[in-house]
Amino acid sequence: MSTIPVNEPLLGERELEYVSECVRTGWVSSAGRFIQEFEQKWAAYCGRKYGVAVCNGTAALQVAVAALDLKPGDEIIMPTFTIVSCALAVIYHGCVPVLVDSDPRTWCMDVYQVKAKITSKTGAIMPVHIYGHPVDMEPLLDLADEYGLAVIEDGAEAHGSEILFGRNTNSPEWRRCGSFGTVSCFSFYANKLITTGEGGMVLTDDSRLAEKTRNLRNLCFIPGRRFHHEEMGFNFRMTNMQAALGLAQVERIEEIVARKRWLDQEYSRRLKKIPGLQLQQEEPWSSRVCWMYGLVLNPETDMDARLLSQELKRRGIETRPFFLGMHEQPVFHRRGLFLEERYPVAEHLARNGLYLPSGLTLTEDQLVRVCDAVQEVLS
Ligand SMILES: Cc1ncc(COP(=O)(O)O)c(C=O)c1O
Repeated sequence: MSTIPVNEPLLGERELEYVSECVRTGWVSSAGRFIQEFEQKWAAYCGRKYGVAVCNGTAALQVAVAALDLKPGDEIIMPTFTIVSCALAVIYHGCVPVLVDSDPRTWCMDVYQVKAKITSKTGAIMPVHIYGHPVDMEPLLDLADEYGLAVIEDGAEAHGSEILFGRNTNSPEWRRCGSFGTVSCFSFYANKLITTGEGGMVLTDDSRLAEKTRNLRNLCFIPGRRFHHEEMGFNFRMTNMQAALGLAQVERIEEIVARKRWLDQEYSRRLKKIPGLQLQQEEPWSSRVCWMYGLVLNPETDMDARLLSQELKRRGIETRPFFLGMHEQPVFHRRGLFLEERYPVAEHLARNGLYLPSGLTLTEDQLVRVCDAVQEVLS
């Protein structure tokens, strides 16, 4: 019985054609036609004016934070339940991460906990759309407006997800994740809907921020004065070969999104019949595109995620644990951060949650095998 992997990228003829063009023509570095085309197409898909491609999603967060006018010591409010990249980007810039817990239904940051964390030092909010479900951006953006805060949106896991914006007005409209931040970040790692192997992008509508992000990604060279630098930058450039992969996929994003929606519906339909599981609840204002299909064990199962994962592994099914909250990370405790802080929802998710095989190559037979195995282990 072959193992069902958590993810496998689905690469096709177009990817091969574009990457071959890079190799044939010698345009393999960060110069070449695919970079700009990829930037423009992804920005347009997300409803933004500018895209700046970088070498991974962590780098995207780093340049996004660095591009904003934040001072050392400024606080950035973010979810505890996220990847370490978010907190690292804040700390590398000399800012201070301030955490909030998750909403127990969507597992995204509880936006109603944000206001209580705003102080005179708050400079930005960093919402992270978890596993494809959007953060409730409307009240969050109202808060950002009210307090004059920048928004660093992390859409790494939410390619194509949408929010019904203006839902209390007469003319609500669906808007894509990636369209909400002062700066919005994406990852194109191999398990993301659009992948460049490793890669990322920052989107914005602000030409000054786009220019600054572009400079930061490229060592802050000054046009016309080669090797003269007035700011500290990074080499976070994406290669033309990576962008070639990305462009080929953006060109078939609708197909990719449709496949993920199918997977989401099938998993939900089958798993909701199994007692003891909590699934990510989709809010009526959300149209999520599942990045990874997660589940959380309820206390009555007498099992935690680690045990379930081992049992599924024995049945040839790979899983991954959920994030461990930032407030439980030894690396941050050693820096004196988050000591004594407790976030019960994130702690429950971290111990009892895992995600199932969710890649674009997952077949219906495999999906059924996964659901049957979950049922067998829990019965
Ligand atoms: C929410 C989120 N943000 C940022 C990142 C970092 O992206 P990368 O792995 O491309 O550095 C990830 C990676 O999976 C992520 O899930």
